[in-house]
Amino acid sequence: MTGRTPFTHEGIAFGCDYNPEQWAPEVWDEDIRLMREAGVDLVAVNIFGWSHLQPGPDAFDFAALDDILERLHAAGIRVNLGTGTASAPAWLSRAHPEVLPMTEDGTRRYPGGRQAWCPSSPIFRTASLRLVEAVAARYGSHPAVALWHVSNELGCHNALCYCDESAAAFRIWLRERYGSVAELNRAWGTAFWSQSYYDWEEILPPRAALSARNPGQLLDFHRFSSDAVFAQYRAEADVLRRLSDRPVTTNFMVTAHIENMDYWTWADEMDVVANDHYLDHRLGDPLSELAFAADLSRGLAQGAPWILMEHSTGAVNWQPLNLAKEPGQLLRNSLTHVARGADGVCFFQWRASLQGAEKFHSAMLPHAGTDSAVWREVVELGGILDRLGEVAGSRVLADAAVVFSWEAWWATDTECRPSQAVGYLTQVHAAYAALHAQGLTVDIVRPGADLSAYRVVVVPGLHLLRADEADVLTDWVAAGGTAVVTYYSGIVDENDRVWAGGYTGPLRDALGIHVEEFAPVAPGVAIALDDGTRSHLWSERLRATTAETVATFADGPAAGSPAITRNAHGRGSAWYLATQLEPAALADRIGAIAREAGVRPPVDVDAPGAFEVVRRRGADASYVFVVNHGDTDLVADVRGTELITGPAVEDRLRVPSGAVRVVREENHS
Ligand code: GLA
Repeated sequence: MTGRTPFTHEGIAFGCDYNPEQWAPEVWDEDIRLMREAGVDLVAVNIFGWSHLQPGPDAFDFAALDDILERLHAAGIRVNLGTGTASAPAWLSRAHPEVLPMTEDGTRRYPGGRQAWCPSSPIFRTASLRLVEAVAARYGSHPAVALWHVSNELGCHNALCYCDESAAAFRIWLRERYGSVAELNRAWGTAFWSQSYYDWEEILPPRAALSARNPGQLLDFHRFSSDAVFAQYRAEADVLRRLSDRPVTTNFMVTAHIENMDYWTWADEMDVVANDHYLDHRLGDPLSELAFAADLSRGLAQGAPWILMEHSTGAVNWQPLNLAKEPGQLLRNSLTHVARGADGVCFFQWRASLQGAEKFHSAMLPHAGTDSAVWREVVELGGILDRLGEVAGSRVLADAAVVFSWEAWWATDTECRPSQAVGYLTQVHAAYAALHAQGLTVDIVRPGADLSAYRVVVVPGLHLLRADEADVLTDWVAAGGTAVVTYYSGIVDENDRVWAGGYTGPLRDALGIHVEEFAPVAPGVAIALDDGTRSHLWSERLRATTAETVATFADGPAAGSPAITRNAHGRGSAWYLATQLEPAALADRIGAIAREAGVRPPVDVDAPGAFEVVRRRGADASYVFVVNHGDTDLVADVRGTELITGPAVEDRLRVPSGAVRVVREENHS
């Protein structure tokens, strides 16, 4: 078998992680009966299967997995089959302690949790591929298997390993990138602090040091580490594609705080993009972040439908305070993902564990059993997804975009910087939230992506920017686009070398400004702009060259300097926001810029509270999703057939507080 197979499924997939190994076989029958009752039709098994399938180096035992696959198949439930390699059995690290990952201070991590393996370990690679070979040979043509699930959340815990194997692999990676030590010295700027290298063997991962480390080395170690973890995916996928004709994916973690994998470089090798998302209540606006993650998942899929491989019915167990979802939130969160392009909604996990580190994590079937609000909502969701089946395959179209880059995240959040309070993701989330608050549909794109589909592109804090990426943006503005660039963008190139001659470097001409100096502001201190708005965290001493000054800092360390500028460039315009506007002011400003550029919500919504509205366009019909997060009912200007509750909408659509409605519009042009 060779090549790539797309993932297909009838309607919207509804599923979960299922860990039958945690339960006696008597429970399996009840599980499958209840799965059918809920409408579950895609189940991930064998995610943490290794120690069950391979009790010792030369012993395999597939009896239980054979049984489970047969039972699921007999029930008409499709299987998303894990390769089982996510967590290695204890016998492997006992025999080969060197497979265990090492932290930056040289400490080996012990087994006892999960994912305790070094991504660059040849011993781990060999052992894990042996398991994949066995699993793929046995189940590669099994009629139940709809999809391969490589490992699990690759790089969640072990992305950055500093052991000697990782050091050797890092050197190989660097040789391929730079060719010579001299070139590496130039790229890393090792003239600074007497760091010049003369031999490849002198080069190490950026292990814990007494002072700040070399930022170029840190950045390249991030790139290398992302590639090293991805190499495990590719190695497993190669085996699967050789032995099976089923599509292959792994579950991404496009979610807050997971920064180590550059999924732009991974996504092309997924037969379908799959993402895990958990609401993070440590964030200021978790719902906006959910929408951002969903839009980014769609971006990684290049607009194609994707699968929400995991989320939660209620609380997780790994935040300091794990909030239960409000009544109705399970439905709203699930359907927000569908609105934004997901053709599958799956949960971690099916049945709540009684033991183990995740026993207090919510599940589709909670500890309380079926006599519970969570179970009733799960069953309701299954019914709704069934009614939304015709939505599958349709696509979200956006005329606004936000540029997002993992490399910029790594370069921004490095050790020595103007303000530790300025973080990349916070800026991205703030810019996205400003668009989200206006109900605008946004694509998330990588730097250098083709922008021709968009009227407005927001570039939040794109600290690391290559010249060619800047050219794409500048040319697109010249051709008539409207860009909004926020502070701390265009500061360094791909080697973390400052673009000299005024910050924003290669964007200077498009922006028409000359930034002389950063003037960060202490967290918690507000500064005033002369347009009556307030801002935080950052200001800059800059001068407009060709740009018009729209607002000026009224106080703070850059008082008198432009805070918001707009530059006419070719047929378009480029805005610059030199500070972190308060959320409402940022939403107003970005909303006004978008409106002026002709960007509108998909339909007009009259809502006093928060809402989301997204249109998915299919071949024959379009589907407008309206999610009402507010305390009062809203009205949306859309007509057609409402798919969740059934009636035709002839006038305007009323969406009760907390509800979701999906309207099919016939022949929408
Ligand atoms: C991730 C993992 C699951 C589980 C959940 C808990 O998504 O893939 O195995 O640990 O987190 O939220």
